[in-house]
Amino acid sequence: MISFILNNQTIQTSIPPGTTVLDFVRYHKHLVGTKIGCREGDCGACTVLVGEIKNGQLRYRSMTSCLMPLANAQGKHIVTIEGLNMEELSPVQQAIVEEGGTQCGFCTVGFVVSLTGFAMQGSDLLNLKDLVNLAVASIDGNICRCTGYKSLERAAEKIAGLLNFQSLVNLNTDGRLQWLVENKYLPHYFLEIKKRLEALSDNSFSKKQKNGNGTFVGGGTDLFVQKPEAMVDASIEAIFDKKELNKIYDKGGACYIGAAATATDIKESPFMQSIFPKLKQHIKLVSSTPIRNMGTLGGNLVNASPIGDLTIFFLALDSSIILNKNGNKRTLKLRHFYKAYKTLDKAPDEYIETIFFEIPDKKSHFNFEKICKRTHLDIASVNTACLLKMDGDIIREAHISAGGVGPIPKYLERSSAALKGQKINTGLIKKTAAIIQEEISPISDARGTEAYKRLLLRQLFFGHFLEMENSTLKLEKLV
Ligand SMILES: Cc1cc2nc3c(=O)[nH]c(=O)nc-3n(C[C@H](O)[C@H](O)[C@H](O)COP(=O)(O)OP(=O)(O)OC[C@H]3O[C@@H](n4cnc5c(N)ncnc54)[C@H](O)[C@@H]3O)c2cc1C
Ligand code: FES
Ligand code: FES
Repeated sequence: MISFILNNQTIQTSIPPGTTVLDFVRYHKHLVGTKIGCREGDCGACTVLVGEIKNGQLRYRSMTSCLMPLANAQGKHIVTIEGLNMEELSPVQQAIVEEGGTQCGFCTVGFVVSLTGFAMQGSDLLNLKDLVNLAVASIDGNICRCTGYKSLERAAEKIAGLLNFQSLVNLNTDGRLQWLVENKYLPHYFLEIKKRLEALSDNSFSKKQKNGNGTFVGGGTDLFVQKPEAMVDASIEAIFDKKELNKIYDKGGACYIGAAATATDIKESPFMQSIFPKLKQHIKLVSSTPIRNMGTLGGNLVNASPIGDLTIFFLALDSSIILNKNGNKRTLKLRHFYKAYKTLDKAPDEYIETIFFEIPDKKSHFNFEKICKRTHLDIASVNTACLLKMDGDIIREAHISAGGVGPIPKYLERSSAALKGQKINTGLIKKTAAIIQEEISPISDARGTEAYKRLLLRQLFFGHFLEMENSTLKLEKLV
C-alpha cells in the first residue's frame, strides 16, 4: 500500500508502484490539468510539486510526473495544477496572463507549477537581479512552443519582484508557506499539510522491501525513459527515500554522500559548497531543475553513460564507492567500476550505498567543464573535471576525468600521472594535452565529429588551468 496526499486528498493505493505519478493523476484520479508531452522529462508539461518534511520543515520541489514512480510518492504531498487553483488567479497565474505568457496553453500548467515552486522555495537573496535569475532558472525544465519565451521571462521577473522584500527572506519554509497562503499564492489547505503528512503512517514502501528483490529505482529519470512499459509491473526496490542513502557528511577527513542524494541535494549542501566554492555553477550545468530534483548520484553512476555529469565530477575527485549486496559490503575505486560500455563491476543484486572522497584542502584546485548543444536539458558533447592537489607551486596529486571521448566515463590515468610532481607552466599543460589525445578514443556521432570532440576536450582541459584563481596563463600561448 502506498500512502500520500494528492492535492487535498489522502490517497491509499495498491496499484503497481512502478505506475508513473502522471498516469495515476490523469487516469486513476482524472486530474487532466497535468499534461502529457514527451514522457521523457524534456518538456515539463507534466510538472508537479512534491512536498515532504525534511529537517522538520515542509519543503517542496518540482518534479516531472512522467518519470516519477508512485513508489516515490510515499509519505509525500503531490500537488497538481488542480491543487493550486483557487477562486481567483494566483499572482503567478496573473503574471503569466498579464505578460501574454500563454497562447495554446498546453505548456502553461507546467510553467505555473514551476513558478509556484520558485515562490515556495524561498532564498536568502534580496538582490532583485539574482532573484530574477532564480525565477527564470526555475522554468529551465519547461518548454513552450508558442510564446518565444520573452513573455514567460517577463512573468518570472514580475513574480520575483513581488517576492523581493526583507520580511519574506527572513522566514523559514513553514513561515513562507503561511505568507504564501495569506497572499493567495496557495490555497488554504496547504497550512494543514504538514500535520497531515506527519500523521501518515510510515509504512514506507521502501522500508518493507528486502534488499536485492527487484530493480533498484532512484529518481527514475533514466529507467522511466529507457523502459517505461516494463517498469509499470516490475518488482521495484525504491531507494530514493532510504534515509541512510540520503546523507551527506564528513568522516575522518573524507566526504560521504549517500547514493540516493539528488543533484539538487548535492548542490544545496552547505558542506559540499564549503568544499567546492563553484559548486552551484557546476551542478547548474546538469539537466534542469525538476530532473536535478529527482536524479540521484547512484543512478548517474550506474546508468554508466560515458557523459554522465556527476560521474565525471566524482571521478576527478578520485572517489570510491561502497557497494552492498544483502548486507555484504565492499569498497571499490569509482574509476575501476567501469569495465566496458555499460558494463560494471557490480552484481545485479548489488547496490551502491555511498560514495566518498578525501576532502581536498583549501590550496587544491577543482574544476568541472561541460559543453553541450543547449544550455539546459542537454547531455554533454564532452565534459571533464580536474583536481590538482598542490604543495606550494608543485602539483602533489592530479586527477583528470573526461566524458564523451570513449565508451566509458574516462579517468585519464596517464595524463593525471604526467602532472604529478610538476610545476604548472605552459609547457607542462601542452605536453599533458598531447597525452590526453593518446588516451581518448572519441567517435563521430550526433553530438559531434571525432575531431571536434578531441578539440573540445583540449580546450576544456586548458580551461581547468585558466579557471584557476590567480592564473597568469594565457590561452593564446597554449594553443
Ligand atoms: C530530461 C533529462 C535530462 C538529463 N540530463 C542529464 C544531464 O545533463 N547530465 C547527466 O549526467 N544526466 C542527465 N540525465 C540522466 C539522468 O537524469 C541522470 O543520470 C540521473 O542521475 C539518474 O539518476 P536516477 O536516480 O533518476 O536513476 P534511475 O532511473 O532511478 O536509475 C538508473 C539506473 O541506476 C540503477 N540504480 C539507481 N540507483 C542505484 C544504486 N544506488 N545502486 C545500484 N543501482 C542503482 C537503476 O537500477 C538503473 O539501472 C537526464 C535525464 C533526463 C530525463
Ligand atoms: S511529459 Fe514531457 S516532461 Fe513529462
Ligand atoms: S503556449 Fe503553446 S506551448 Fe506554450
